[in-house]
Amino acid sequence: MLEQIKNTAAYIQNNISIKPEIGIILGSGLGGLVKEINIKHTIPYEEIPNFAVSTVEGHSGKLIFGELGGKNVVVMQGRFHYYEGHSMHQVTLPVRVMKFLGIQKLFVSNAAGGVNAGFEIGDLMIINDHINLFPNPLIGKNYPELGPRFPDMSDAYDKDLIAKAKQVASLNNIKVQEGVYLGLTGPTFETPAEYKYVNSIGADAVGMSTVPEVIVARHMGIPCFAMSIITDLGIFGKIVPATHEEVQQVAAMAEKKMTLIMKGLMKLI
Ligand code: HPA
Repeated sequence: MLEQIKNTAAYIQNNISIKPEIGIILGSGLGGLVKEINIKHTIPYEEIPNFAVSTVEGHSGKLIFGELGGKNVVVMQGRFHYYEGHSMHQVTLPVRVMKFLGIQKLFVSNAAGGVNAGFEIGDLMIINDHINLFPNPLIGKNYPELGPRFPDMSDAYDKDLIAKAKQVASLNNIKVQEGVYLGLTGPTFETPAEYKYVNSIGADAVGMSTVPEVIVARHMGIPCFAMSIITDLGIFGKIVPATHEEVQQVAAMAEKKMTLIMKGLMKLI
């Protein structure tokens, strides 16, 4: 496994001329941040050894290198989901590769269903903790070169990055919620009973990504910052059938606000 990660990183390194400091993973319908990047290199996932190929509409599948808010970044436009049938190793491989490329922080975005009664469609939520209902991506042999056997998860989402993101949001008059993201496999959206359950065990939003990537990043000691766009509501009395198209439409509408926060945050760190 280590060999695979190193070979993939070496291939990429041979094709780029910058050293990324920050890794960014863009979720469903959130690719617009790419327009703000001064792009130096684009590598389609098909060309990268050991990368899976993403199959979901709205995830175009490219690794983009460039400059955003004065920082060198590597951006995953499109991610790998467990529900596509990829192994947890494949889902999280890009994060490990980004670490070998030199990233010191990881920013993650996603679309999620809101289960907090105070949330509205189109809200942004800064993730301050998570609940993992996926198989843990660290199950299997541990590689001490990557991180410890029993990694701490008490500060999965970096408090300093959260505080700075809130500063940026307030300076730009952007309303942000903050809360707990619960990750589960999908691909079904939740039943009303499941939304209620998810909320009752402490989540504010639910989605099908992010948690495996953050676990693997924290294993390697990388500080993480993550945001959800609330694209639908799993709140009693407000539940309407959720569709992937709607999720993407709402994400596209709210993504300008998210892009502003991410870019502003780059400048502050
Ligand atoms: N549930 C799970 N994943 C999601 C949702 C949801 O309601 N909305 C966007 N991604």
